Amino acid sequence: MRLAEFALERYFARWEFAVRYLLCASDVEGLPMASLLAMADDETRALWNDLRLGYTESTGHPLLRAEIAELYEHAGPDDVLVFAGAEEAIFCLLNVVAGPGDHAIVTWPGYQSLYEVARAAGADVTLHELHEADQWSLDVERLIASLRPETRVVVVNAPHNPTGMLPAHAEWARLTDELADRKIHLLSDEVYRFLERDERDALLPGADAYTQGISLGVMSKSLAMAGLRIGWLATRDRDLLARCAAFKDYTTICSSAPSEILALIGLRARDRVLARSRRIVADNLELLDDFFRRRAAWFSWVRPRAGSVGFPRLLAPIPIDEFAAGLVEAEGVLLLPASQFGHPGNHFRIGFGRENLPEALGQLEAYAERTLA
Ligand SMILES: Cc1ncc(COP(=O)(O)O)c(C=O)c1O
Repeated sequence: MRLAEFALERYFARWEFAVRYLLCASDVEGLPMASLLAMADDETRALWNDLRLGYTESTGHPLLRAEIAELYEHAGPDDVLVFAGAEEAIFCLLNVVAGPGDHAIVTWPGYQSLYEVARAAGADVTLHELHEADQWSLDVERLIASLRPETRVVVVNAPHNPTGMLPAHAEWARLTDELADRKIHLLSDEVYRFLERDERDALLPGADAYTQGISLGVMSKSLAMAGLRIGWLATRDRDLLARCAAFKDYTTICSSAPSEILALIGLRARDRVLARSRRIVADNLELLDDFFRRRAAWFSWVRPRAGSVGFPRLLAPIPIDEFAAGLVEAEGVLLLPASQFGHPGNHFRIGFGRENLPEALGQLEAYAERTLA
């Protein structure tokens, strides 16, 4: 298997811990350990205090799987498989469902592993491109028209990284019904679930939509615990899950014992955790709306319908890579240029899950005033 370099992750490896302001992060400000432990109930506190650091159950701690299953209408603990982050789940799942002779369709621009792993596994991949002119919306009829007899999996990330796209309920139902009829898997990357601007817009999870639907979830984004490296797949397709479990024997075998218990504590306290995340994201988005309204001469802005990232465009006649390089050099503020997604536009990803966004935005504005005005 020959994997192309993961451009975005290489960019973060270079910059993430070297800059003052990460104005392009996709996760919500990491929850302090002390706050999390303070949320433990009697059972989870005892699990934490008495924890032994041996290997863990390869499918995931039964209590953790049970708690994850609560996030879905039609999944029980045996319909859940725990991984080291969403990334490992993507790697295992796409290796299992997409190989030579298979076809996959993946939303794009997007998180590179969602299409790169299928490609490296030998599948033919069609990128379903989203366009700013359509408000980045998913074109469900165009996507359905690109299905082939050999299509094995459709990968949709919604809420979407980097645009904040979220399909309407009717569009989502049209897609999932069509895929159910044709018995094609849907990998529904829901890592930004629970960050919808309006909770009524939340999509039916892939695992609930139909038997071959697969939900991808993680502790990293809305649940603000990226450092746990705990993610999961949920699906009623037990055979598929068993094949993913067998593949995982070649990656991590089982999850980190402390992380599993901490994830369990966090999920049981998810109402409080998510309320914090939604408050951070909502306050920051208000500031971004105001910024882009005042600076409409410099930036275009499609307001994200959900999630913690957006994909504005620099309108000034200067390449975004150059602008971003100058900004990080002068102000220590990191943006993520579209080139890191392999996208040719003058766009950049902006992230609004971090608590220092007000300051970072101030630095961006000062720099733009100096260089663009
Ligand atoms: C859409 C999407 N899927 C999956 C992941 C991977 O999540 P994790 O890093 O928690 O494994 C990311 C991370 O940025 C993402 O944006």
